[in-house]
Amino acid sequence: VNFHNVHISPQSIERVTRALASGWVSEGPAVAEFERELSAQLGLSRPVAVNSGTAALHLALELAFIGRGSEVIIPAQTFAATGTAVLQCGARVVFADIDSETGNLDPKDVERRLTEDTSAIIPVHYGGLPCDMDALKAIAKRNALIIIEDAAHALGAKYKGVPVGAVSDYTAFSFQAIKHLTCGDGGALCCPGEYDYEEARRLRWFGIDRTAPVDELGYRNCNIHQVGFKYHMNDIAASVGLGNMEGFADRLARRKSNGEFYRRELAGVDGVKLLRIDPGMEHAYWLFTLLVEKRLDFVRALKARGVPALVVHRRIDASDVFDGWGRQHDDLPGTDYFDQHQISIPVHDALTDEDLAQVVGAIREGWG
Ligand SMILES: Cc1ncc(COP(=O)(O)O)c(C=O)c1O
Repeated sequence: VNFHNVHISPQSIERVTRALASGWVSEGPAVAEFERELSAQLGLSRPVAVNSGTAALHLALELAFIGRGSEVIIPAQTFAATGTAVLQCGARVVFADIDSETGNLDPKDVERRLTEDTSAIIPVHYGGLPCDMDALKAIAKRNALIIIEDAAHALGAKYKGVPVGAVSDYTAFSFQAIKHLTCGDGGALCCPGEYDYEEARRLRWFGIDRTAPVDELGYRNCNIHQVGFKYHMNDIAASVGLGNMEGFADRLARRKSNGEFYRRELAGVDGVKLLRIDPGMEHAYWLFTLLVEKRLDFVRALKARGVPALVVHRRIDASDVFDGWGRQHDDLPGTDYFDQHQISIPVHDALTDEDLAQVVGAIREGWG
């Protein structure tokens, strides 16, 4: 049983070959088609395709004018990119605690971390489980804050029936190698607002309006009014993504049914705690995370039965770059508990029924 699965469909190979032969190797028609498919198939609101999830997060922070003097609240339980994107803008990272039963930001603790410099909150839908967006949006509204959802793990998740990617003003997705849908590398920023959408399309390519007319000399006259970036997705990556969109609904459904299978089969197993899924949350199951006492024994018991179990992301607050200087913050008890007990088991869509039975059997025999 493999922990991750990198899905490259035959259609991806065919489409990449076509893109290469066409000469459209930078941003061209495949990127536009990929954006249309993301909206049509997954309900994402005005996705702007970029070359990584990190680029999508950084672009959102730039669009929201987050910079020096601003504080941005994030969970420590995430991948480094959530925090480094904030530092890239010159803003300060402030860690808020998570609910140890979900792995997601605890809105009450977010509220406690607010200062007059707080400008934004980046909730991370950890492992694909949506955060309590109503509570976070209410805090943002009361305090005039921006919300940027880090949905790198959450393609296909829904919050109260609404696809993640259509819930708030900015949502960043990742199409990196081991995500639900891969482009090789890639990302998308959803900006439901008209102005942000147009601006995101400019800033992903140096701040240049690619729809501006070209003059008789072949030159595109364009006034760059804000520093832009080289963040556009190219047609080779978009072709990989488009090929992988074919059959994606079935693969996503398989992931979700794998997750639900584990929840049924592992409920009540001694020494294993399932995460809490509140009503209205539709998990995208990028990870299936359990909370386990004696974690190392658990990993060894599973390994002996051919089943990998991993800690995919550990808390990031001890890193020097976040002023941790090797020490974890001591005021994040929910993060402490989650960090010490979390362990993930394989949940991807290529697992067979036999694989699932092997995973459950290994946990029951080796552990329960
Ligand atoms: C929570 C989270 N945010 C952001 C990213 C960055 O995405 P990318 O690797 O596409 O830049 C990742 C991971 O890969 C992630 O796990």
